[in-house]
Amino acid sequence: MSAAIINGKEIASAIKIEIAEELKKIKRDTGKEAGLAVILVGDDTASAVYVRNKKKSCLEIGIRSSEYHLPKETSQEAILSLIGSLNNNSEIHGILVQLPLPHHIQSNKIIETIAPDKDVDGFHPVNVGKLVANTASLISCTPLGVITLLDKTEIPIEGKRVVIVGRSNIVGKPAALLFLHRNATITVCHSKTRNLSDYTNKADILVAAIGRPAFIKADMVKKGAVVIDVGINRDEAGLIGDVDFPSVKERASYITPVPGGVGPMTIAMLMKNTLIAFKNTLNKT
Ligand code: GUN
Repeated sequence: MSAAIINGKEIASAIKIEIAEELKKIKRDTGKEAGLAVILVGDDTASAVYVRNKKKSCLEIGIRSSEYHLPKETSQEAILSLIGSLNNNSEIHGILVQLPLPHHIQSNKIIETIAPDKDVDGFHPVNVGKLVANTASLISCTPLGVITLLDKTEIPIEGKRVVIVGRSNIVGKPAALLFLHRNATITVCHSKTRNLSDYTNKADILVAAIGRPAFIKADMVKKGAVVIDVGINRDEAGLIGDVDFPSVKERASYITPVPGGVGPMTIAMLMKNTLIAFKNTLNKT
């Protein structure tokens, strides 16, 4: 039997509509609008596409977005100084620096300079620490999107064996913590894992965040597993995930497509984090 396809695009749209309504109500009540600043350094094609999509969503739902597109040779000091001024700008509630940055820039230094309250990516060490302690309000958008997709599809998490392939700071590690907080049993696999399919074959929920096109084949998946594909790889044919969709779909119970699965959820969660950061400032005044 073929898996049910989880429609991330549809779920993300519904979430964005709810956020738009809440923003409209806040504007009616307080006259205030949320503002998101997005910094893009250089000309990476994929990053430019992500930034364009983020801007489009802001426009749709009523978040003021300001984009700072800087040339790739921009100095670290110039970026730090821009972040400093955005930190002090009361009309900006969220700051996002699109990664990856050019090699001469220390990403950690950039991330650590963003005010934790405006860190809508959830990458600042303060927010990562809060995620570990399960007290976070700003959580990395892609893993948050993965959990939200499962919740909206009413797929239970508690007690499940979750295997995450990939250990990045953006996806694998925060995803492991989120699943752990939901009482799942977690295994994080990576490029040095031996006999990978011994682990993936035991997963009730398999999260693929590897960055290699169609890497997860049907024989690596347990029959009836839920398969979440975080990969976005580009080839001549267009976007392709980390999961070999045509074969795995015949083995899984649920599967996310690429495009139209996790990708739109990442953006919806960015909008949600911006709303949270904005609302936190309203409570303070
Ligand atoms: N590059 C790839 N994913 C992300 C993300 O979630 N946030 C930022 N800032 N950069 C990314």
